[in-house]
Amino acid sequence: MVTVIFPAAGKGSRMQAGMNKVFMPLGGVPILIRTLLQYSSCSEIDQMVVVVAAAEVDFVKSVLSKVQRLKPYNVVAGGSERQYSVLNGIKSVNGSDDDIILVHDAARPLISHETITAVIDGAKKYGGVIAAVAAKNTIKVCDNEGVVKETPDRSTLWEIQTPQGFTRKILLEANDRAQAEGFLGTDDASLVERIGHPVHIVKSDYRNIKITTPEDIIVGEAFIKSQEQSRLIEKNKRIMVEINDLIKDCWQ
Ligand code: CTP
Ligand code: MG
Repeated sequence: MVTVIFPAAGKGSRMQAGMNKVFMPLGGVPILIRTLLQYSSCSEIDQMVVVVAAAEVDFVKSVLSKVQRLKPYNVVAGGSERQYSVLNGIKSVNGSDDDIILVHDAARPLISHETITAVIDGAKKYGGVIAAVAAKNTIKVCDNEGVVKETPDRSTLWEIQTPQGFTRKILLEANDRAQAEGFLGTDDASLVERIGHPVHIVKSDYRNIKITTPEDIIVGEAFIKSQEQSRLIEKNKRIMVEINDLIKDCWQ
């Protein structure tokens, strides 16, 4: 059984759009729906958990009910931090220890099927894997005064994306331990690393950006124009006008 948890309960404050960015259209399709359709057209995926703010649960359920050919899904309420949102998602997933759970930012709609499949295969093999690309820039460690302390060798540096994939047992244990010990990490793998389980990287691609600031919309739309749209996105294109209107009404 392969389940994907989609944290979508953020505020999108860096996007400065006055709404949760995951409802904004990218190439005419709301970012969250693009992400869910991309996973739904992947045969390895069995079910999805969409984690949204408590106040948005009913709204998201009514929007998603209009979308065709989504994999079986559940909508649950998130928390004040991404880690708490993911935890609520994990708690809603029953199953056995060796089931696979992927965590994928709803704000990364440009994920490729190749990376999804590689992360699932890697999670089965190693128990914990994360999508990554080689760092393109030189990265320095600085102190609080902005003075450079260290320049790590770039060939050892990787920018980490989602999906991050784990066996259910490892992800549950890592999240339980983090919660009990009050640890807050910036990604899911950091919780697994601290319980001593090795996490492997899986090479992804530079298109899998997280839509975070307004310029990411321009870049994301350029990527969409330059590639063939998935069959499911094409199939749902007609309903998108209605869905975008629904979203607009709700946020005005
Ligand atoms: N997220 C979440 N619950 C939170 C915070 C974030 O589910 N309490 C989700 C976001 O909806 C997003 C993903 O985690 O899909 C990655 O987070 P980020 O890009 O930081 O999104 P936001 O937190 O919404 O944006 P910002 O930090 O600019 O407010
Ligand atoms: Mg955030």
